Amino acid sequence: MTQDELKALVGQAALAYVQPGTVVGVGTGSTVNCFIDALATMKDRIAGAVSSSEKSTQRLQSHGIVVLDSNSVERIPAYIDGADEIDHGGHMIKGGGAALTREKIVADLADRFICIADESKLVTTLGRFPLPVEVVPMATSQVSRRFAALGGNAVLREGVITDNGGCILDVHGLSITDPLGMEQEVNQWPGVVAVGIFARHRARVCLLGTSQGVKTLSF
Ligand code: 5RP
Repeated sequence: MTQDELKALVGQAALAYVQPGTVVGVGTGSTVNCFIDALATMKDRIAGAVSSSEKSTQRLQSHGIVVLDSNSVERIPAYIDGADEIDHGGHMIKGGGAALTREKIVADLADRFICIADESKLVTTLGRFPLPVEVVPMATSQVSRRFAALGGNAVLREGVITDNGGCILDVHGLSITDPLGMEQEVNQWPGVVAVGIFARHRARVCLLGTSQGVKTLSF
């Protein structure tokens, strides 16, 4: 099976985690696009969606799915999103699509994070994928120096401004053995809007697309 076929498979499988009559949290990325397309088949049975990016909002609306303002929603049962890496504890690196801050906000509204990914995303230790960090523009050098002190090489993602007006640093060369500790540490650095480590908001379920079909991992 191709990677695109695996993404379509897990996008479809995620429908089982959408509770009819409720609002569903929707992430961002090519795997989530498959989920959005599948969600369209049950759009009349959900109360709407809370979206994590302008791109996902556009796709949801193009299917006629109602997108709600996150400020109008107090709790959602499930947040469905992809990942750039996921480890065997459900900790993730996210932000390849520059939507990490809003993804974390919507994940925080949810009772459960359901990760959808193809098997190439499953790793033993996070960090081979460069860690995305959203930063206020005036702090990019300062934050880069802090990463250098930890052995990381932060590279500004050229030409990218997030939906919130921030910049993205991609940090190469980290081996993230303590995802929760590193997330907490980086979150405290002035100028950091959000770090793409999802440990506090880790996945509770991962639907992993494999050549043998969808494998369900629970954490
Ligand atoms: C976007 C994300 C995505 O979930 C992540 O980049 C995975 O994307 P894809 O499904 O296209 O591989 O974090 O900010």
